[in-house]
Amino acid sequence: MESAYDRMQAVMNYATSRISHNKPCVGREELEALRQVFARHWLIKGEEAEKLEHTVARLVGVKYALAVNSGLSALHLALLSLGVTKGDQVILPTYTCVALLHAVNYVGAVPILVDSSKEGFNMDPVLVSKRCSKRTKAIIVPHTFGFPAAIDRILQLRVPVIEDCAQGLGSTYLGKPLGSFGDISVFSFYATKVVATGQGGMLATNNKRYFQTACDLVHPGIGATYRARYNYLMPDVAAAIGNSQLPKLRSFISRRKAIAASYRAVLQKKSSLSFVPGKKDTHVNHFRFIIRFRNEGARDTARKVLLKKGIASIPPISRDELLHRLLKLPDHSFPYAERLAETALSLPIYPCLRDTEVGRIVRALHSLPL
Ligand SMILES: Cc1ncc(COP(=O)(O)O)c(C=O)c1O
Repeated sequence: MESAYDRMQAVMNYATSRISHNKPCVGREELEALRQVFARHWLIKGEEAEKLEHTVARLVGVKYALAVNSGLSALHLALLSLGVTKGDQVILPTYTCVALLHAVNYVGAVPILVDSSKEGFNMDPVLVSKRCSKRTKAIIVPHTFGFPAAIDRILQLRVPVIEDCAQGLGSTYLGKPLGSFGDISVFSFYATKVVATGQGGMLATNNKRYFQTACDLVHPGIGATYRARYNYLMPDVAAAIGNSQLPKLRSFISRRKAIAASYRAVLQKKSSLSFVPGKKDTHVNHFRFIIRFRNEGARDTARKVLLKKGIASIPPISRDELLHRLLKLPDHSFPYAERLAETALSLPIYPCLRDTEVGRIVRALHSLPL
């Protein structure tokens, strides 16, 4: 008879052989960088965070960068730097990370939600222009799953744009790196992002006034007149991890690209699935590999089949996470985002996914009843 120990062992074997949907890819370089931070006995913001700021500014091609403790903090500071305040309107997509809504709420602004475009995951620029008014003080434009949004069209509206590159580091659009388009751009270095610091973020801009305002809001000093400050700075412990990760950005993306190619080779033969078509003038970082199914049932069945084979996959944004649902707005006003929430499935794709694991996933995809 199977003992409790055997059962536990079986569970553990299953757990260890299970391919997780995402995983931070850290190793010897990151450990060595941390050792050096420890040796310096300087854990708070210092030379490591400053180095990360310079590297990101250079990579994106902007003048100023401020390292902070999360993408959400960067979004909050961006709105404050643009002077967005109570009652102002901010346009953002419904199909996105809830952090965007939190940031808008932090400053007491009114969120104006926009549906996704028919073809992809990003918000529809035509709908953005329709919702733009005198009360619009900012538009937050995320590059969802690393796919560049039509930010050039949104910039034509002449409203300050916060370019959200939390998922877009390393992608390019119209020959330029993402993060170089917005009045302010923000990044996230959360554990499972393209480049990680554990938790962390960055605000980047060419505008000295915005940058100075953001710096003043996080600087720990008191100043001549009292002003509430935010404890948002990135500690060197986190920045050191980021400084070890950033030089690997190219190789990380190449590895992601190779994995994506393996999945595509199998899935292209399945006529009931679709992908986001590649666009001219665009290089993507393959932050996510998303399959679109014909309907929710087919998506959920595929997910169960994969799980039985020890492969985790997730709906990248579920219905309950759609911002219009959180705000209790009618579903029928956001049909494309609803459809994405029902039909999209995200597969494991990260640089430290082993060849054997990729092989297992490819074989499992091959066997999907589609
Ligand atoms: C598009 C987008 N913006 C902002 C954030 C917030 O970043 P963080 O988790 O670092 O606060 C995320 C986080 O996942 C995100 O996906």
